[in-house]
Amino acid sequence: MIFTVAIDGPAAAGKGTIARDIARRFGLAHLDSGLLYRAVARRALSGEAAEAAAKGLDPSDLSEAGLRTAAVSAEASRVAAIPAVREALIDFQRGFARRDGGAVIDGRDIGTVICPEAEVKLFVTASAEVRAERRWRELGGDGAGQSLADVLDDVHARDRRDMERATSPLVAAPDALELDTSLMSIAEAVEAAAAHVAARLPG
Ligand code: C5P
Repeated sequence: MIFTVAIDGPAAAGKGTIARDIARRFGLAHLDSGLLYRAVARRALSGEAAEAAAKGLDPSDLSEAGLRTAAVSAEASRVAAIPAVREALIDFQRGFARRDGGAVIDGRDIGTVICPEAEVKLFVTASAEVRAERRWRELGGDGAGQSLADVLDDVHARDRRDMERATSPLVAAPDALELDTSLMSIAEAVEAAAAHVAARLPG
């Protein structure tokens, strides 16, 4: 069975939680495509050229510790704006999306660029304030030393870079179901997404 669920949206909107739950529920493979950009960013922060890092990315890079730090997050949205970096990561993502058995991929451009033919597209959003507060809580309930205002600044800066870049900017595919999770619990958002997927699963 070839069946792709593409989940896009801005940072900390709940995409990851929804993607993991959908994958588990329906027995699909899951790829968090943000990890690819984070792994490139981590290598770039160690001095490697971003394009070379993207071309030489190894699966073991995706399970490295330290991919979720604020410094790596900020650098990831910078390397993600480099067309050659994005280009180097396309084939792997397309192959994953169309693998036999079905796949869920979450990111920014999955339903628009990586897999426009995806059987299910979701665009998960929430207000910047709600996303910043969720991220701040995730960082251990005290922002891991960052104030809520700092986390909100980071969210705004990443949104700007993701939405304004020339190559594959963050935008909802016209045929995506938009889920605004600002006023929903994550459990409610997951249920809405799962109902949408269930209605489209073959068989
Ligand atoms: O989703 P996550 O926050 O882990 O992604 C890190 C960064 O990688 C994002 O801010 C974005 O700039 C970039 N990214 C992207 N395209 C994707 C996934 C992530 O540009 N498909």
